[in-house]
Amino acid sequence: MNFNFTEEQLMIQQAARDFAQRELIKDVIERDEKAEYPTQHVKTMAELGFLGMLVDPRWDGGGMDTVSYVLAMEEISKVDASCSVIMSVNNSLVCYGLEAFGNDVQREKYLKPLARGEKIGAFLLSEPEAGSDATRQHTLAEDKGDYYLVNGTKNWITNGNTAGTYLVIAQTHPEKGHKGINCLIVDRNSEGISVGPHENKMGMRSSDTHSVMFTDVKVPKENRIGEDGFGFKFAMKTLEGGRIGIAAQALGIASGALERAVQYAKERKAFGTVIANHQAIAFKLADMAVKVENARNLCLKAAWLKDQHLPYGVASSYAKYYAAEIAMEVTTQAVQIHGGYGYVKEYHVERLMREAKLTQIYEGTSEIQQIVISRDLLKD
Ligand code: CAA
Repeated sequence: MNFNFTEEQLMIQQAARDFAQRELIKDVIERDEKAEYPTQHVKTMAELGFLGMLVDPRWDGGGMDTVSYVLAMEEISKVDASCSVIMSVNNSLVCYGLEAFGNDVQREKYLKPLARGEKIGAFLLSEPEAGSDATRQHTLAEDKGDYYLVNGTKNWITNGNTAGTYLVIAQTHPEKGHKGINCLIVDRNSEGISVGPHENKMGMRSSDTHSVMFTDVKVPKENRIGEDGFGFKFAMKTLEGGRIGIAAQALGIASGALERAVQYAKERKAFGTVIANHQAIAFKLADMAVKVENARNLCLKAAWLKDQHLPYGVASSYAKYYAAEIAMEVTTQAVQIHGGYGYVKEYHVERLMREAKLTQIYEGTSEIQQIVISRDLLKD
């Protein structure tokens, strides 16, 4: 693995940094408070090519590599994880799923507008009673000959209201367990779909998270991705890449908190000197920096493996598990270093701490990543 980034990768990193530091920063606190969707910023991310950056240019994407994606995700997440989760779900779950496992007709019709950022995608796996235990899908996609009839409820869906295209995981043959599950491409405007209210979340408050209900929704047979019964494997394979995106998000939240803590420690005075001169603070910063650097290396390793077309599923779980855990630790320490100022909104670190929490939960909790890692360690 080469630790030097290419010129193109550095340009993408810089473009993401400029966008985050010039645009996102302006209204991030207000949007968080109002739980307001970042409509204009999503448009700008589309114009900058961030929403389909991993997609091949043949399908109107940016054709960038996963290392560049990690660099861009880190920069955007340093400032606003609500925007970076919109970008991550669109890129590494929905676009990737369609590009890797869809057919050309599906790619032409559904992937292209998503890669151009004209439409946003959502990935509908979680249900009220199937979160971590993802094989137990209750949503039914009954085979009616030339269409599927979909009934059920999906929960915690990022982009649930704004998405134009849903990838819906549903059970077609309950007697076959996970081998009976399918993934269907569903138009958001299909008759029978209703969307619940915006979830009033602890953090990432300006990304839209909703439940989505399906009542007798007819989905054409040609909208199934892959062979009959491929849906669970599809979800697992797609989440392997999604977890690189969320790992990079957690990394960005942590590195953003570290940058703010370093800056504050160099300015704030106590006991006659800036607090950075107190070993209690300097050593905290050193610990935080080592954790951030380790997380960055794990993210880049998983991205590099994916770019080399080598197996990357377990590496992405290492990255997601570690980055999410240290994001929680590093943001907590950043609040501690800021003292009382850390506890108010103007200093950003309390928001970063709230955002970090979600990275331990979605796209596979930390405990799910431990399952994936330990099963790999213990396999014959
Ligand atoms: N690639 C391909 N196939 C895989 C796979 C992978 N990475 N992981 C599992 N499978 C296959 C297995 O080989 C098995 O198939 P066979 O029976 O043919 O061998 C099948 O899937 C079932 O696997 P397991 O027996 O291992 O299943 P399990 O019930 O023990 O659970 C799990 C596996 C890893 C715990 C899985 O259920 C899991 O990842 N759960 C977490 C779900 C999750 O991440 N949800 C996030 C929601 S999406 C989200 O958050 C998006 C958003 O909006 C931000």
